[in-house]
Amino acid sequence: MTLWLGDGDMDKFVIQKSSLKGEIKISGSKNASLPIMAATLLTDEECRISGVPNLADIRTMIKILEVLGKNIEFDNNVLIIRQKDKKSYVTPYRLVRTMRASFCVLGPLLARRKKAKVSLPGGCVIGVRPVDLHIKGLRELGAKIAIQKGYCIGEAKSLRGKHIFLGGPFGSSVLATANVLMAAVLARGETNIEYAACEPEIVNLALFLKKMGARIKGEGTPLITVEGVDSLGGADFKVIADRIEAGTFIAMALATGSNLTISGANPFHLTSVIETARKMGADIICKNSRINVKPKRVLSPVNITTLPYPGFPTDLQAQFMACLCLADGISMITEKIYPDRFMHVAELNRMGAHIQRSGPYAIIEGKKKLFGAEVMASDLRASAALVAAGLVAEGKTQILRIYHIDRGYEKLEDKLKGLGAKIKREKQ
Ligand code: EPU
Repeated sequence: MTLWLGDGDMDKFVIQKSSLKGEIKISGSKNASLPIMAATLLTDEECRISGVPNLADIRTMIKILEVLGKNIEFDNNVLIIRQKDKKSYVTPYRLVRTMRASFCVLGPLLARRKKAKVSLPGGCVIGVRPVDLHIKGLRELGAKIAIQKGYCIGEAKSLRGKHIFLGGPFGSSVLATANVLMAAVLARGETNIEYAACEPEIVNLALFLKKMGARIKGEGTPLITVEGVDSLGGADFKVIADRIEAGTFIAMALATGSNLTISGANPFHLTSVIETARKMGADIICKNSRINVKPKRVLSPVNITTLPYPGFPTDLQAQFMACLCLADGISMITEKIYPDRFMHVAELNRMGAHIQRSGPYAIIEGKKKLFGAEVMASDLRASAALVAAGLVAEGKTQILRIYHIDRGYEKLEDKLKGLGAKIKREKQ
């Protein structure tokens, strides 16, 4: 397990039962921003990316790009990325171990700098998380890749387009698709990526690459076709809103029985989540980029299976489990992306939930109440689930190790306070 200490390394949240009300504006997407930032390695021209959330993971990617020779300004959610004279191709372990998404610099480095030495990410609390599909795809494009002393060392004198099958035992892979796509845009000839991830973050990356001059078709479907070009230019681009942050606020509305309006998000990126929330008894009205959530007093139980997009996202599994702890009956969650992503189960049970886990399944017996306790955040999304549970639990909840939250939720406690939540950040 990688232990990462960020802004809130020694902070905790202290939460009291609250009801929420009002409107919340969703930040730009972390998981769209990270590969788009890596894609700037494909050009020496200036790129301007707006809507980038100010998060620990984004600051880690900034450090990585700086090590690789980029000069970066980050102000007011706008990144300006320029090339310095010095160019490197080495991404050290000290940076990659803090964030697995760092590995998506491999494709752009091979494509543009013809060489890469990128530390392999280690294990992770949500599962094994291998990178075999990334390496397979890049090798098929012609890169020579060796694993030595924990590093992935690659050379790519010339990349050539290929028909690549990128499916793995759990279906498509988001960042493997991103890595192979970013390499294919500068490969000679046509590349077809079959079993490509269809996530909105991949569509956003493809749109950014197209703005840089790449020729891509089929993004958002399982078959992406790329016609390689000789070079790419700079681009000015805005990232999409964070669908997982929006889904987390839907879960918070459900858990606390509060009427919330979530603005700035794309409801079409959340169809499976909205469908599930409706089955749980919420009245949801979507108008343009506003999602109005009115939950009923007692939630109905549902069965949820996490799947690649457009299925229910694994990144919202924990938050919805927190809601189902209070449903009127028995629910089942099947985790098909990360079968071990259940660290939050024990913590929710410490708050009075009744959840039994067996392999990739969790059976949740709804209870009338949860009770505040001292609990430990284990990963980003599990931490958000504990915040949702803390907002509805009787008494005081203290969530330790909230540096996980700072990796992926921009100003979470300020946003919640604005909705009326009783939440404080304190030293641990
Ligand atoms: N997989 C393989 N081989 C590979 C790559 C993936 O078997 O080479 C497996 C994984 O172990 C998993 C499945 O394929 O079972 C899907 O994983 P995927 O590669 O899609 O995950 P990822 O690209 O590493 C991104 C998000 C995660 C999110 C997953 C799934 C970013 C930066 N990360 O990770 O987000 O859970 O897709 O949707 O985009 C988070 O934000 O909290 C987070 C963990």
